[in-house]
Amino acid sequence: MRQYLITGIMALAALSSMPAHAAEKVTITLEPSDSAPVIAKEIYGQFTEHLGSCIYGGIWVGEDSPIPNTNGYRNDVLQAIRDLKVPLMRWPGGCFADEYHWMDGVGPKENRPRMVNTNWGGTVEDNSFGTHEFMNLCEMLDVEPYISGNVGSGTVEELAKWVEYMTAEDGPQAKLRKENGREKPWKLKYLGIGNETWGCGGNMTPEYYSNIFRQYSTYCRNFNGNQLYKIGSGADAYNYEWTDVCMKNAGKMMDGISLHYYCVDDWDHKGSSREFDTDDHYWLMGKAYDIDTLISRHSQIMDRYDPQKRVGLLVDEWGTWWDVEPGTNPGHLYQQNTMRDALVAAISLNVFNSHADRVRMANIAQFANVLQAMLLTKDDKMVLTPTYYVFKSYIPHQDAKLIPLKVDSEIITVRKGRQVPVVTATASEKDGVTTISMVNISLDKAVDVDIDLAGIKASKVSGEIITSKDIHDYNDFGQEEKVTLRPFDGAKVKNGRLTLSLPAKSVVTLSLTK
Ligand code: AHR
Repeated sequence: MRQYLITGIMALAALSSMPAHAAEKVTITLEPSDSAPVIAKEIYGQFTEHLGSCIYGGIWVGEDSPIPNTNGYRNDVLQAIRDLKVPLMRWPGGCFADEYHWMDGVGPKENRPRMVNTNWGGTVEDNSFGTHEFMNLCEMLDVEPYISGNVGSGTVEELAKWVEYMTAEDGPQAKLRKENGREKPWKLKYLGIGNETWGCGGNMTPEYYSNIFRQYSTYCRNFNGNQLYKIGSGADAYNYEWTDVCMKNAGKMMDGISLHYYCVDDWDHKGSSREFDTDDHYWLMGKAYDIDTLISRHSQIMDRYDPQKRVGLLVDEWGTWWDVEPGTNPGHLYQQNTMRDALVAAISLNVFNSHADRVRMANIAQFANVLQAMLLTKDDKMVLTPTYYVFKSYIPHQDAKLIPLKVDSEIITVRKGRQVPVVTATASEKDGVTTISMVNISLDKAVDVDIDLAGIKASKVSGEIITSKDIHDYNDFGQEEKVTLRPFDGAKVKNGRLTLSLPAKSVVTLSLTK
């Protein structure tokens, strides 16, 4: 189902010094439907890889650290995870997963071997954060764990035993787990069979990988009532052939297939997170919105083999990817996060929600200190990014029933010929509360929005806004937050319609009740 229909197209020509567009009025029509899907909370999932300081320093500092911690996890970060109601975390990679041998990360810490993180800067790590540390974190915070298994350099036996170690009540692997201090099995649903097997996960062809998936998934068993949801390593962005071949050859054995999409066009010139011009801004908005087309096309291919939409399309890596901050390790992917990144997050989440019938999970890359992060840490300090605040304001959409909608917005043409609506939106209903989120990507024009509530009874409206004076604004250590969530009281509900002025470069979320 497409929730998002654009009408009233008024495309402007691509201009390098970007659009003097006149985005003044937008109409949104809600189209509630009994058959609309629920927006899986897993769409608001996070990706936590052994990369740079995502795990070490970002989440885990160890029990002996002077940084305030609980059993080795940073207290400030634990609180941020709770506040964000993070539903799911994917671990240990990424590319790292295909060189990770889980046995190195269990048992007494002093006996755990050190390893070189060959993918990410050659950093040597001590394996002090392993299976117990990850699974206990998830359990403590009520976060669904998603384990990404090593297919590239591991074996079927190794992955099968890892599943047994985590989920079996009895047997040799359960015995080992108990000896390592954990009596009860953990609950594990999401299991990734490889990561980017077309690239860092083994440079395979889709035909070869389909067979590998079939083989691995045969031996990853359901122990003692645990039910695995097995995820195939899916396509890189526009590689539709990958989805086609994998669905044809292995789709019947998959519960989900992944899709990776980063907002990059030229991997040799990714650009700066903080220094960009107007043209760069609108290019990025177009690139972010392209995920809509991508999901539609992958989904159409999946429909050929799975018309009932049993298999989920899981965007288990997505987000902006900029040049690293000057002076930082190029392999650690540490970047700043501006108001522009917040707009990307909101556009993407709007799109994912609109495809909730097929998209059952998405994990932004990555949770801490890497790529489009929720938070940045420096020693004992932490800042919350503009992207964090988008995720916070979208919490009401988690596990809410989608309300399909139409947006009648101006559409602009940006660099590379991509088209993007000036306003995108998403709506859902849960526990009698209707939530509507909207993004205005214009750098200089507020938009008058008129929403037809289509009979949804509402008399009270409250709201929150994320915006900033300058699109380049970001939150930094030791400074007052420039981009944060603030109350928004500019919306009025009357005679079944909601009206507001949506400020330039803003994300607004409204809650409506009777
Ligand atoms: O998120 C960083 C990396 O991007 C991941 O490790 C890999 O899967 C992808 O290429």
